[in-house]
Amino acid sequence: MIESFYQILAKIGYTHPLHPAVTHLPVGMVIGAFLFALVALLFRSMTLIHTARHCAVLGLIGLLPTAGLGFMDWQHYYGGSMLFPIKAKLVLAGVLLVFLLFTVIFGASRKTYSMSLLALYFLCLLTVVGLGYFGGELVYGKKSPVDEVPAGLAAKGAAVFEQNCSVCHFTDSTQTKIGPGLKEVFKRDKFQVSGLKVSEENFRKQLNTPFSKMPPFGHLSEEQVERLTAYLKTL
Ligand code: HEC
Repeated sequence: MIESFYQILAKIGYTHPLHPAVTHLPVGMVIGAFLFALVALLFRSMTLIHTARHCAVLGLIGLLPTAGLGFMDWQHYYGGSMLFPIKAKLVLAGVLLVFLLFTVIFGASRKTYSMSLLALYFLCLLTVVGLGYFGGELVYGKKSPVDEVPAGLAAKGAAVFEQNCSVCHFTDSTQTKIGPGLKEVFKRDKFQVSGLKVSEENFRKQLNTPFSKMPPFGHLSEEQVERLTAYLKTL
């Protein structure tokens, strides 16, 4: 269902993630709401208190499509893989929903400016900053945006790895699980067990005709192998 939606978009020439295009609505509204609430308190302005609340309402409305499209991008670009920034974003989106709901409801019962209301707007602001931070972490990771491996491809590879390889290989160490640990595998000269030179070609050989005890993975599609390679290069 989700895939066919992206295919339709691709046909009309839209080939980018959807979440970044809509996320500015809730983010902008939450930043605006905080600033209006702050100025309202400083200048004792009832009008601006209303403006702040209206921003919060619009932010709340905008949060729903933003989270929904974020979920779809996650399925499409990251194969639904549970990466840490994704988990953080899921939690923070839930927190923001609760904070915003509370701010809107509490704001309606308060007919005047108050520090507690401003504090609520501030909590919403902190949450969107966190969401932005983990969004950046997800897309750029520890690398610069110009790094040769696209983050989305590697993340999809992580999902392929999780399903097919993680039972036998660690990715965060070089210790043997059943097969050798693959940390920094593409940064080495030789594969540990076979002694073959580390290259994409020999990696493919390892998958199709493993050296000794690893089962063959000739059934993986070209696309899956590309994703795996991109992922292993990030280790
Ligand atoms: C059932 C356990 C098992 C599974 C599943 C498995 N491997 Fe292996 N892997 C091994 C063993 C054992 C070796 C040691 C060499 C051999 O037996 O071919 C190995 C070796 C390797 C090597 C060479 C490492 C080195 O330094 O020698 C790579 C790369 C590799 N595996 C990647 C993968 C990938 C990618 C997957 C998933 C598509 C995968 N393996 C799935 C057991 C496994």
